[in-house]
Amino acid sequence: MSRKFGCNKVFTVQVQCVLQCAFRKLSAAASVPPKPFSSIPGLKSFPIIGPLHNFLPFIGEIGPKGNIFDLLDTLRVKYGPIVKMNGAFARGPMVVLFEPEDYEQVYRAEDLTSLRPGFAVLTYYREQQKSTFEGMNGTITAQGKEWRDFRMKVNPALLKPKLVKLYGPALDEIAVEMTQRLSRIKNDEEYLKWNFDTEMTKFSLESIALVALGTRLGCLQDSIPADHPAKKMMDSTKVIFEMSYKLEILPSPWRYISTPSYKKITNAYDSHWKISTNYIKHAQKALQERGHDIPDEDKSVIEKLLAIDEKVAVVMANEMLFAGIDTVAFVTTNLLYHLAINPKVQDKLRAEIRSDPESGSKYFRACLKEALRFYHVVPANLRRTSKPHVVRGYEIPEGVDVIAPNEYLSRMEKYYPRPNEFIPERWIADKSDPLYYGNAHPMVTLPFGFGLRSCLGRRIAQLEMEIFVTRFINELKVSWDGPPLKVVNKLTNTIKKPYYFKFEDAK
Ligand code: HEM
Repeated sequence: MSRKFGCNKVFTVQVQCVLQCAFRKLSAAASVPPKPFSSIPGLKSFPIIGPLHNFLPFIGEIGPKGNIFDLLDTLRVKYGPIVKMNGAFARGPMVVLFEPEDYEQVYRAEDLTSLRPGFAVLTYYREQQKSTFEGMNGTITAQGKEWRDFRMKVNPALLKPKLVKLYGPALDEIAVEMTQRLSRIKNDEEYLKWNFDTEMTKFSLESIALVALGTRLGCLQDSIPADHPAKKMMDSTKVIFEMSYKLEILPSPWRYISTPSYKKITNAYDSHWKISTNYIKHAQKALQERGHDIPDEDKSVIEKLLAIDEKVAVVMANEMLFAGIDTVAFVTTNLLYHLAINPKVQDKLRAEIRSDPESGSKYFRACLKEALRFYHVVPANLRRTSKPHVVRGYEIPEGVDVIAPNEYLSRMEKYYPRPNEFIPERWIADKSDPLYYGNAHPMVTLPFGFGLRSCLGRRIAQLEMEIFVTRFINELKVSWDGPPLKVVNKLTNTIKKPYYFKFEDAK
């Protein structure tokens, strides 16, 4: 009895001690003021050029880095889980958080405000064009209340689950035509080596135009005249991405003088705007002639947007055409590449496609998730703080860009075993399997972004890719005959030419 009592006493004393220690730690944490922002480890910085000298060969602390992946790896190894960088050329300060719990804390606290800077050139262009846009920003460039109001208006049209029923048959027509086109040109290896990106752009533009403008553009014809709107749209999209990289990422004085690159991007934005407006007017006329007496669920995206207001419809169509072309083209190419270098995965997918259509597309979705884990379109997500936060004991004030390096983390062994292997099975494995994707923190892989401000086109994008890749893999076998595909980061991830795809009829 006394021994038992003695034991209890020891236990009681231990519990008291643990509680006291925990209390001491808590009150210490509460009483210790956060360390100042300036003390966060990171790159040294000078006025105007910011931290750029760190990337100089030989003398720079970091040295030149070919890609963002290597840069992030160097920063994490050198400085730890929280790294500060001051912006160069009037860009604001940034903090990279390498632990998902840390950026989750900031992102959740910021979700209602959701400030996501970027696209400074487009923002400036829209400000200059007040007469055209009548001061209206879309989701890409608006911030704060203006963004929330616009987003709440367009969410129901773009994120509704009925999109499959509405667009499935027409997207399938595009998928069939695109597959036939690739089948026709598959032996022209020299052309495909240097122009596979153009082919994927034709597919993604034709698909998103169907939703955004309510029409087929005609990108899949064998020859497109130079003055055809589809050709103009493809050309201006290319200019927008190339010039955005030059103006937004590389040092450029465009804010002070109208540089040649700024003039080029302005012309491309004008052309985009003109073409979308014409098509929307056309769609509006056709809808008026048809009448609006159809069930709400059968109304197209464009009809729903026009019902909100014509300006919202044009701005939103314009944004879909900015955000929905290169993204889908990149991810489709990334997926086809991984299927090409993993023939067993490709065979398994083909078997699923050719089996009972009722069995669904579970394996396709796993393949897509794995391709997105490998290469995000946007390698890192970003939010600008609208209030102070304390992370890892450091103060992060208002106005700092908090970066979540999602693509880098998605290829870490600690989150995904065998991270550099393409294993779609991890997305369908059950919980007892070490590969089970759910063992990774849910904020590690965020290919469509986070929270209320996440991608508006994700349902449309997934539908387009599923329908096309299903048709393609059923008809064609894809392989890769060359060195590994090279992804480079230019604002978003892009693929470096040449392409070494080979296509043959699938048995
Ligand atoms: C696989 C293809 C795509 C990927 C991986 C992708 C990815 C993303 C990401 C990462 C963001 C930023 C989200 C955030 O900050 O949290 C975004 C935003 C956006 N995306 Fe996509 N996207 C894709 C396709 C599309 C398509 C087809 C459309 C056209 C409908 C589209 C329209 C948009 C718009 C309008 C935004 C801005 C949303 C806002 O700020 O409220 N995206 N996308």
